[in-house]
Amino acid sequence: MDAVPLGTTGERVSPLCLGTMYFGSETDPETSRAILDRYYEAGGRFLDTANIYATWVDGYGEPESEPFLGDWMARRSNREELFLATKVGFEYGDVPQSLDPDLIEREVEKSLDRLGTDYVDLLYAHVDDRDTPLAETMAAFDRLVESGTVRHIGASNYYGWRLARANTIAEERGLTPFSCTQPRFSYLVPHRYSDFDRQRPATDELVSYCDDEGLTMLPYSPLLQGCYGRDDRRIPERYVTTENRLKMDAVEAIADRHGVSGNQVVLAWMTQRDPPTVPVVGCSTVAQLEENLGALDLDLAGHELDRVDGIQTLGGLH
Ligand SMILES: NC(=O)c1ccc[n+]([C@@H]2O[C@H](COP(=O)([O-])OP(=O)(O)OC[C@H]3O[C@@H](n4cnc5c(N)ncnc54)[C@H](OP(=O)(O)O)[C@@H]3O)[C@@H](O)[C@H]2O)c1
Repeated sequence: MDAVPLGTTGERVSPLCLGTMYFGSETDPETSRAILDRYYEAGGRFLDTANIYATWVDGYGEPESEPFLGDWMARRSNREELFLATKVGFEYGDVPQSLDPDLIEREVEKSLDRLGTDYVDLLYAHVDDRDTPLAETMAAFDRLVESGTVRHIGASNYYGWRLARANTIAEERGLTPFSCTQPRFSYLVPHRYSDFDRQRPATDELVSYCDDEGLTMLPYSPLLQGCYGRDDRRIPERYVTTENRLKMDAVEAIADRHGVSGNQVVLAWMTQRDPPTVPVVGCSTVAQLEENLGALDLDLAGHELDRVDGIQTLGGLH
């Protein structure tokens, strides 16, 4: 797996990041371990979790993903080889939604404890907090970086203008900036009036800001539950638009030509994008992971990328 640069961090990371949201809960421990082992064996080193994963699943009020990863890393003695990302900011249990400095500090301590490590490679603000001044949040993140507890910071679910403002404040005050962002992003673009609650789908402004400033985008829910390659998954309701039907046709035609699945075409489009995005892939079986890893071997021709990009893609205008 050829590593790619990660935003402004100066680091190189795996081109596919493995999302571990349901590991140890909805995805049973044995399968979760098998997925992690296969990803590692294939050369994957970039894992994505969060303090809240997945406390909303029935029967799992406590975080499972972080302790599950902690246990797996301890069994495999491979913590130092991995690039580990976690997140703070959403509510769970008796923890409120907030990016208040004290809360960030407390939650990161808990994450480290669950993960069985004394640092994380990347800490995301999981959601924006309009009640805490950005300067206070950025200063809190900076203290964690200065202490060595956190190596880099990123922002998830931010509007482009809030991300830009946060990084401007950081620059003015000599604080650590957000080096990358994790938005809801796929090839299909949601209907513009869709309500995703506190999730923020990428917008043209976000994409062009990131491209111009060298911030890598790490799309979450990149495959929209696998809908690009499964007969049992339709286009999600909020994505049903005329444009997206054309996009599905384009993906299908390219998939047929290469004898691959539409999900692989979409992942290849993301990793071959200029600049590349690093999809955060979720899988519930090893077979799905195999297929997604296979996307790294799919070389889309220039005219295929042109066709895919020819139907209104985010960030096309600079
Ligand atoms: N920052 C945030 O706010 C945020 C939000 C959501 C997720 N995330 C991160 O992003 C990761 C992925 O999110 P997601 O689960 O929503 O992603 P997704 O790409 O929308 O969906 C993943 C699901 O798609 C199906 N799938 C994946 N690969 C497939 C394949 N090759 N063939 C057929 N089906 C396939 C599987 O569904 P089945 O399991 O039903 O088979 C899998 O569980 C999470 O683990 C998490 O780390 C972050």
